[in-house]
Amino acid sequence: MIKGKPFVKWAGGKRQILDKLKEYVPVEYNTYYEPFVGGGALLFELAPKHAVINDLNKELMNTYKVLCDEEKFKKMCRVLNNYEANHSEEFYYEIRNKDRNKNTYNKLSDYTRAARTIYLNKACFNGLYRVNSKGEFNVPYGKKTKVNTYDGNNLITVSNYLTMNDIKILNVDYKEALKTAKKGDFVYIDPPYDSDTAIFTNYTETGFNKDSQRELAFVFKELSDKGVFVMLSNYNTTLIQDLYKGYHIHLIEAKRNINANAKKRGSVFEVIITNY
Ligand SMILES: C[S@@+](CC[C@H](N)C(=O)[O-])C[C@H]1O[C@@H](n2cnc3c(N)ncnc32)[C@H](O)[C@@H]1O
Repeated sequence: MIKGKPFVKWAGGKRQILDKLKEYVPVEYNTYYEPFVGGGALLFELAPKHAVINDLNKELMNTYKVLCDEEKFKKMCRVLNNYEANHSEEFYYEIRNKDRNKNTYNKLSDYTRAARTIYLNKACFNGLYRVNSKGEFNVPYGKKTKVNTYDGNNLITVSNYLTMNDIKILNVDYKEALKTAKKGDFVYIDPPYDSDTAIFTNYTETGFNKDSQRELAFVFKELSDKGVFVMLSNYNTTLIQDLYKGYHIHLIEAKRNINANAKKRGSVFEVIITNY
């Protein structure tokens, strides 16, 4: 079976540590849950037949939904072809700034918004997703003279996977998305990471702070009490070690490159925590 790959570059994307993650996935489970799905690296790798995927990022989840509709999917690709042909710095800012006028922005079709999301992801600086306090995408131009917005074969594989299996796509807070998880299901939790130093963590308008990590640890425990298999990844920080003591904490070394400061990129220690 040909496996799909993430169609966006996502901060915290799991491609580099996929092999490590796979080592800890339970051999058997019922429904797969990924409440912070982002680019979906592990989802596409495991390709479960029954899954619930979710992210708070509205534009990202709209793109997943468009990929589930053949007609909209084709229209999105046509818009992307047009964006690639017109790509320039000026054009980038024209597309980026469409969300400055909420009236016209809300009237855009879902497939045009999906094309905008993919185009901005590929053409912006370093594939970051960042919005200001008004929810306006504000990442500068990535200075690429040419952009390839999509790999047609991969998008078809991803679209086939999403439509031919039982995949529920949500756009809510993770707690809401996990309400239906039952004994025997498997939940992979990949939240915005905690940090001991101040590095980039602001994925959405809401942010995810230390209290959010504490609340998440409580949800981890609730799921564990129900008999759900739970696996979580995060940085190896003092808070994370403290919140998950008593569970299995596996230390791994990962290469990370989403950091605005090139000098600070490099190896960091991450953890994969399981309750089984
Ligand atoms: C570390 S990233 C996930 C990376 C992903 N596993 C991948 O491979 O690309 C964290 C994600 O959590 C999402 N997020 C932040 N707060 C959230 C919340 N309260 N509920 C659901 N998703 C949230 C962000 O939009 C972001 O996509």
